[in-house]
Amino acid sequence: MSTSKSLDDVLQEYEILKTETHLESYPFVSLEARKLGEWRPLLKDYVLLEPGIRQIIIDEEHPGNKIIHLKKGTTVDSLPTELREKFRANNLEINIRDVLVGTNHLRYDEVISRLLPENVPSVSSFETIGHIAHLNLRDEHLPYRSFIGQVILDRCPQIRTVVNKTENIKNEFRVLPMEVIAGDDDTDVQMKEHGINFVFDYRTVYWNSRLQDEHTYLVEQCHDNEVVADLFAGIGPFAVPMACAHQSPSSAKARCFVYANDLNPSSYEYLKQNVRLNNVEDRVVCMNEDGRKAVHVVIEMIRQHISERDQTLGENPPDPEAGEKRMRVEPQPKRGRKPKPPPVPFNYFTIPSRFVMNLPDSAPEFLDAFVGCLSPLFLSTELKDNQTIINTITSQSFSSATSHLLVPPSSTYSPLPFVHCYYFTRARPEDRPAEFVERAANAFGGFRIDSQLASDTTHTLSDILSLREIRDVAPLKVMVCAMFRIPFQLAFKGVLEGT
Ligand SMILES: C[S@@+](CC[C@H](N)C(=O)[O-])C[C@H]1O[C@@H](n2cnc3c(N)ncnc32)[C@H](O)[C@@H]1O
Repeated sequence: MSTSKSLDDVLQEYEILKTETHLESYPFVSLEARKLGEWRPLLKDYVLLEPGIRQIIIDEEHPGNKIIHLKKGTTVDSLPTELREKFRANNLEINIRDVLVGTNHLRYDEVISRLLPENVPSVSSFETIGHIAHLNLRDEHLPYRSFIGQVILDRCPQIRTVVNKTENIKNEFRVLPMEVIAGDDDTDVQMKEHGINFVFDYRTVYWNSRLQDEHTYLVEQCHDNEVVADLFAGIGPFAVPMACAHQSPSSAKARCFVYANDLNPSSYEYLKQNVRLNNVEDRVVCMNEDGRKAVHVVIEMIRQHISERDQTLGENPPDPEAGEKRMRVEPQPKRGRKPKPPPVPFNYFTIPSRFVMNLPDSAPEFLDAFVGCLSPLFLSTELKDNQTIINTITSQSFSSATSHLLVPPSSTYSPLPFVHCYYFTRARPEDRPAEFVERAANAFGGFRIDSQLASDTTHTLSDILSLREIRDVAPLKVMVCAMFRIPFQLAFKGVLEGT
């Protein structure tokens, strides 16, 4: 094949290939149509499974018969004894016939590799986002990109638009720089990920279908009624499913309360739409802040709600009989009809048990947001009598705080939140824990999350820091998720020093 084919040459060859047919010989057996039901299960291991060739057709020469095409090399003698005897008892033969084979069955990558010049590598995969195929073409492909896009449109019926990444993602909101290379110029996506509906404009927000297993993994770690803060939520692939009913270790149908934040105004708009679309408005608070500021905004929201509740309770102490009275007047559900559970108000009174930080390019730099993040809850004078918070702080000496840190990750309910920090690294697996501790210490003003281990001979770094490899992003570069509890001394910095 020539190495200097133009795009026009390739397109012309493609037109010819589409009409190309050739004859190929295949074994077959002709059977009375009424006996097909009996014979098909017996022949299941021998039936031809070639795309583009029909397995069963009418036998024009023997009215009332059907032809079953068989795999190449099948003969009566090659069949197991019992089946061979049955063939002979029924006077059946296996003969050979010529079948007209077209090119419709060729996969997109087969067509592309057949027609691109020899010196141009083939295209072996693309990411599917609803009706969009997203390609990362190499420079050698670019002169042929409209051909490549057209083949994908022709061969993949679910695809209406083909886009190519035009440069590396450098923008703040991690939006893919792209050009449409074939099909409709339409990047408005409507799709489902694990049963959850999402809408978004792929041109203006971040989306990565390769993260779907990670989205599911984290969602399934969450327990019923857990409060979670997703600081870089995008259009909601963690936040929305967490708020919907899902499988979890604690209950078959867990639902979380989620603070979902993203700085990209377009992501924020689609996040709100997706929350509405999946009917979880009562479970998700959407925010459009910088991720660092979002930590403080969430804590301030909680502080204010607790403060308002405590003031109201102070003015109107609860009537001990109120609950009973309400019980008495509640209407009974009609027989046979399941009572609809009342809507659960958003839980503004609990500190999030997880902060999710999926901004792998720079998430570790945002960890400074956790320094003293819970101190406002303690410093607030209105909260002096709030038992939860006072207990959280006063019941813990430094040593109990240490044991607290060492609670294994599976025991979720602890007053101190987990951080799930996604980041990129080139470090070797054995060097990654120390590397992460250093990166975190830079953000924590020198505080090391492993500092308690110096006086603790029973635990190691892996007890307080778990690192999971998520995916390869480039040669020797991987995306990792670091999970650790915010250390007590860090979360309440300021309070503990008496400032
Ligand atoms: C890698 S994406 C992750 C989105 C989503 N969590 C997911 O898994 O698909 C990172 C998101 O962080 C947002 N972002 C970037 N900088 C931010 C910042 N300073 N504060 C808050 N969000 C930010 C981007 O708009 C983007 O949606």
